[in-house]
Amino acid sequence: MKTLQEFTFTKLDVSDYEEVLLITNEKVGLRAIIAIHDTSLGSALGGTRIYPYATQEAALFDVLRLSEGMTYKSALAESGFGGGKSVIIADPNKQKTQELLHAFGEAVDSLQGKYICAEDMGCSPEDVGTISEKTPYVVGTLHPKSSGNPSYYTAWGTYCGIKASLQHLYKNTSVKGKTVAIQGLGSVGMKLAEMLFQAGAKIIVTDTDPEKMKYARAHYSAKIVALNEIYSQPCDIFAPCAMGGILHCKTIKHLKCKVIAGCANNQLLRSEDADALHKKGILYAPDFVINAGGLINVAEELCKEGYNKKNAFEKTQKIYDRLLQIYEIADKSGISTHEAAISLARFRINYKIGKRKEPPVFHHALS
Ligand code: NAI
Repeated sequence: MKTLQEFTFTKLDVSDYEEVLLITNEKVGLRAIIAIHDTSLGSALGGTRIYPYATQEAALFDVLRLSEGMTYKSALAESGFGGGKSVIIADPNKQKTQELLHAFGEAVDSLQGKYICAEDMGCSPEDVGTISEKTPYVVGTLHPKSSGNPSYYTAWGTYCGIKASLQHLYKNTSVKGKTVAIQGLGSVGMKLAEMLFQAGAKIIVTDTDPEKMKYARAHYSAKIVALNEIYSQPCDIFAPCAMGGILHCKTIKHLKCKVIAGCANNQLLRSEDADALHKKGILYAPDFVINAGGLINVAEELCKEGYNKKNAFEKTQKIYDRLLQIYEIADKSGISTHEAAISLARFRINYKIGKRKEPPVFHHALS
């Protein structure tokens, strides 16, 4: 245990993780966990989630899963980063103060770039901007040298992933006339709905927020269904774009889709749920592959030349090819697409394929 000013850093012993730190600062009420899963290919990069977890164990469970997912996401997106994630145990609507974010920024700074934070649920690009007042090790702020809100790129990558899934199944990428059921109309889900509608898809939506559903109905002719009805909708594609852990035995049995392709992190409750989807003949686009657009976009701002929108857009588009490659591996080996994606990611990590050659440049902190 190490104490730095008013902070307490407690190293949690978690096997297979490089470093997991519980960080507290009683003065400002900070209770956070930073989980660094693997830095074989570069510094650990991953968002900061601010959520009122009921227990510290629940927060740890979430951050560990998210952090491991970032390792695979980074490896397959060829971002030149490793996997990490952080959570702040707090209600973002009531406890998210400037003091709290600054204290978290100081904690991130003390790791000297081993972990780079970004936005996530409960933590907006404005909030990461506040964190960046205490540390350069931040991406995705609204600073002119930064890459801004990653949601558009996540939606674009998800759209490309849907096209790859259709190509794999039908040798035709067109979404025209296809029905897509979207769970969650947040920053990513709503943009995805717009892209699909403009390309001629029929949209079904659900969200806990009735106003968002009304917006989708008015602008994208979406059919609105109740929260639990989304699973049983006859559709071509089911796009989970809200919370994780929604694919499990109680939901999979209701699914009537041919493809699952959405942006939510950790969609599978357990890895074995991927086998259940495989047996049911549903093509599952592994979440950490299809939702890498946001990561690709923020990683772009750390290259020597600085952020370039066009490069971020083109690199995100490669999600299409990566998914086709994973589908082919899965088919040839008779394994689930989830397992195929993890095997490919581990291969890249073991052989250091895509390891960062030049250190990241934090342009926003230089001006
Ligand atoms: P968001 O917080 O903007 O949107 C989430 C939406 O889901 C909200 O509209 C909320 O009302 C709705 N929702 C909550 N519970 C629901 C439920 N039970 N059923 C249906 N809808 C529900 O989040 P955002 O940024 O759109 O992200 C969505 C998912 O994608 C999250 O899992 C996030 O971790 C993941 N993701 C987001 C990235 C990004 O660039 N924003 C990048 C990679 C992953």
